[in-house]
Amino acid sequence: MDSQQLRQTGEDYLIRSSLLSDVVAASGGPVFVRAEGSEVWDRDGNAYLDFNSGQMCSWLGHNNPRVTAAVQKGLSQLTHASSVYYNEPQVLLAKKLAETLDAPLRRTLFIQSGADSNEAAILFARRATGKNAIAALHLSFHGYSDVSRAMSYIAAAPNHGPTIPDLYAIPAPYAYRSPIESESDEWWAPLLDISFQILDRQCAGNLAAVIVEPVISAGGVIELPGGYVRALKERLEERGALLIFDEAQTGLGKLGEMYAYQQLGVMPDIITVSKHFGGGLAISAMVTTDEIEQKALEGGLSFGHSHSSDPIGCTAGLASLEEIMEADVPAKAAAIGTYWQARMRDLQQRFPMIGDVRGRGCLQGIELVRDRNTKEPANTEADEIFRLCLKEGLLFSVRGAHGNVVRFVPPATTTEQQIDQASDILERALSQVS
Ligand SMILES: Cc1ncc(COP(=O)(O)O)c(C=O)c1O
Repeated sequence: MDSQQLRQTGEDYLIRSSLLSDVVAASGGPVFVRAEGSEVWDRDGNAYLDFNSGQMCSWLGHNNPRVTAAVQKGLSQLTHASSVYYNEPQVLLAKKLAETLDAPLRRTLFIQSGADSNEAAILFARRATGKNAIAALHLSFHGYSDVSRAMSYIAAAPNHGPTIPDLYAIPAPYAYRSPIESESDEWWAPLLDISFQILDRQCAGNLAAVIVEPVISAGGVIELPGGYVRALKERLEERGALLIFDEAQTGLGKLGEMYAYQQLGVMPDIITVSKHFGGGLAISAMVTTDEIEQKALEGGLSFGHSHSSDPIGCTAGLASLEEIMEADVPAKAAAIGTYWQARMRDLQQRFPMIGDVRGRGCLQGIELVRDRNTKEPANTEADEIFRLCLKEGLLFSVRGAHGNVVRFVPPATTTEQQIDQASDILERALSQVS
């Protein structure tokens, strides 16, 4: 089959309401056949710089050699095992993961996706506290299973049927579009006050946890201020409620340190990791403390899937953690972020359309506006830039509440030369659209 026939076959046989980008769906995008490091190739032999790291899961670089070798070996040893028993890669991975975290976070449950790690976190928080209400930021994304979707307010869609009871939204601290004008470092304080005034009324002593992405990713690459998160934790402690960090997109080195909670100086009670944890294979984890695990068990916890703790996923996770630690991947992420952001700030000086440049390490965004004073979102322009860059061989995604934040997640294998190449492609697209 040639690429056109493959694309047509996809259109004929695949569910059309998938995550396929509207732009790609309308214009017919590439059909990928292979990848290596920071590049992917389509069926026609065209190369693309993948500044989306696949769906962020290949952030260690596509086909990481260490992960590939470990998985190849593991496939002939133990592909699947019953989660009623321990298996060797599972036990070794639990210990290794604990070594990357700080005490008292050390007890892990392995599952498969970001969504089910967050489902597990909610379940543990509810069973451990004996309370039910969960709050999330109004620009958050936590997955597409029913509970995680219901607390993914950025993905809210009309006619999705009744939402899950006892989930609440609180305003995200979004510095670039804050409704509160303030010069103070603590500009977010009124938002937090209002959040708890409302939560205390709505939940009436029933708040189990608040879940946050330390950098809101799909909601538009919005960095939570450290002071905000530390104050949030205090408010939660006062109420006997837990803080859950969804580090699907921020953990395991991507922001320049092992975890975003370390950068923010806050200890979450529960943390979830997924995305590049398996170096491209599906595995996720929910980690908590001995105390919370004990309370959750006493609270009548029951949870697991057929593929929980699959040895092959755990083998991939083990290899990816070894890679992250031994190759000092967090330092690479920090260097890539600094270099990329310098290029973006330079573009910002020349293109008024770039209203804001933000992000850390390998999670970066530029917010496009039609006017820097009114901040009118340049969303159709963002789609056009996406289309032009795709044609020139640069992949990224367009996100944010207004569809005007261009998000870049370059793999940890990305070189300065590749960054220059990507930035030049982006510059040409900005020139055409401006
Ligand atoms: C912060 C965050 N949490 C959870 C998820 C859901 O992960 P998954 O698609 O593996 O279920 C995503 C996916 O993009 C995410 O960005």
